[in-house]
Amino acid sequence: MKEKDFNLNDGNVALRPIAGGDAEFLQRIWHETSDFEPNYIGPLAKAKKFVEKNAWNDKRKCFIVHLTQDDLTEPVGAVTAYWYDQRFGDIEVGTDIALRWRALGIGTRAKRLLIAYLFRAFPVHRVTGKTATDNEPARRSLEKCGMQLEGVTKKQYIRNGEYVDRAHYALLREDWEGLRETWKLEGNIEPLTPSVSDDIEPEFLLVGEKVQLRPVEPEHLGFVTEVFSHRFTYLDQELVSEDGLKSDYEKDNDDPVCGACWGKKHRVFLIESHEGVPVGVVGLWNYDKRNLSVEVGTMILDEKARGKGWGTEAKLLVMDYAFKSSPVERIYAGTNQYNRAARCSLSRSGLRLTNLIAGIHEGRRSPSGAALYDITRDEWLNEREVPDA
Ligand SMILES: CC(C)(COP(=O)(O)OP(=O)(O)OC[C@H]1O[C@@H](n2cnc3c(N)ncnc32)[C@H](O)[C@@H]1OP(=O)(O)O)[C@@H](O)C(=O)NCCC(=O)NCCS
Repeated sequence: MKEKDFNLNDGNVALRPIAGGDAEFLQRIWHETSDFEPNYIGPLAKAKKFVEKNAWNDKRKCFIVHLTQDDLTEPVGAVTAYWYDQRFGDIEVGTDIALRWRALGIGTRAKRLLIAYLFRAFPVHRVTGKTATDNEPARRSLEKCGMQLEGVTKKQYIRNGEYVDRAHYALLREDWEGLRETWKLEGNIEPLTPSVSDDIEPEFLLVGEKVQLRPVEPEHLGFVTEVFSHRFTYLDQELVSEDGLKSDYEKDNDDPVCGACWGKKHRVFLIESHEGVPVGVVGLWNYDKRNLSVEVGTMILDEKARGKGWGTEAKLLVMDYAFKSSPVERIYAGTNQYNRAARCSLSRSGLRLTNLIAGIHEGRRSPSGAALYDITRDEWLNEREVPDA
């Protein structure tokens, strides 16, 4: 990339507005490991939709970070400005640098370019940044942009199953005026080489010993339709058609991202063998944000893949994901009282039988009951009892 290709650059680092082709890169950096931020955010379709609809508008401006050295064309990160309060010109900035390019000063340089652009182009009087209190690189980088710590909010979000505190920083326009010349004086740096030499491929999967889980992408909907039509034989087939699922997937209801398969209410994964062959579907369904509860459901379609503990492991993986990445307090599940395989799998996943409700499933001879199971966050993290087979 050449320096002159960019409006925003400091001689080494340059920013350009995000474009359609950046979704893969964005999804990659969202999922690269960080000890400080949750690192499992969803399907590529989510990144695509974000780039298409939410990455560049009146509320948000997302830039891709490049280095201007040599013929290096690969992007090295992304910085975003988000208008919290349009009336009072309160804008937050966020930075994600690709793993192999971290700790080389790029995050700080990119953020400074963004901050300078915001103060020059908009009637902004403060630019803010926030991060987990233990995210030392992010805090140092914010401080090196002149930001002052304004306070710490306790237990702000969940990471690895525990609430973490968040540090809030801000830079006022008048303070930036005093800093902008010193930033310029810091001058050019030598060409950079990656801090991590091997190109580590990020894993977009939840991986267990027997199976791996992949967030459902639009191209999987044919398979999901097949799974659903086996699972819900009593349903009107219209409800489980591929077209129906496609329109659900795209639905914008209260969630602009991937409607019914990956959004505020549902997180649906394909269950795959380690060779990448899909054998079923597991989901966290109907997240209830008032009661902080969600339903787990699994369906193994391939007969040959049943009875091997794959469904149980899939459930364990999504439940762990739910408890560690969101404030879910309770996960529940229900099945036909005579479905022994499902009941065994539920108790092997650590869920407890809480209720038997008579006569609500259509049976061949007479209605059968439903067996209801659940587990709380506390039990999952501290005192889960898993019965032997
Ligand atoms: C946080 C992040 C944006 C910082 O960008 P960066 O380019 O890696 O950081 P810089 O090289 O500009 O370094 C900034 C400061 O942090 C320090 N730092 C960098 N990595 C560090 C580490 N692993 N541990 C401690 N300090 C570290 C640097 O030494 C530098 O301080 P110094 O000049 O006083 O020595 C980047 O590491 C990143 O994308 N991390 C993952 C995503 C994330 O956490 N984003 C922030 C969410 S709010």
